[in-house]
Amino acid sequence: MEKYHVCQICGHIEFDSAPVHCNSCFAPRERFKEITDAIMPAEKEGREKHVPQIIVTGECGLIPNACRDVHVKIGSVPHPMQSDHWIQWIDVYINKEFSARYQLKPDHLQASVGLHIKNSVTGTLTIIQHCNKHGSWMAEAQL
Ligand SMILES: [Fe+2]
Repeated sequence: MEKYHVCQICGHIEFDSAPVHCNSCFAPRERFKEITDAIMPAEKEGREKHVPQIIVTGECGLIPNACRDVHVKIGSVPHPMQSDHWIQWIDVYINKEFSARYQLKPDHLQASVGLHIKNSVTGTLTIIQHCNKHGSWMAEAQL
């Protein structure tokens, strides 16, 4: 079973080791805890609404020639975005290195984000999303 390093303040997950400061909330390394079941298994009940769906496109309409668009939505069946049940954040990693956190409120947004990834970037894109009721779920795609 894979071990993850989880920030006890904001829930941010790191793979190889706990950073000096949390990449999301800047809490010090001592606030990280090693947890093996931090990510829900992809075959777990509820996966249809929770496993991130990643669509890597070949191009970008915003920054042509330098970028390709990646679309991420949570669930093959859209996850609810209601005040009692929603996707709180979507964390983005390139080759297991943290790149961005998208913090969501349920009022106006779908459970989705659009990424503009530099053409020069290759390797594995990892998405971890966190549902306030059902925990953290992960998916990967190749860039
Ligand atoms: Fe959920």
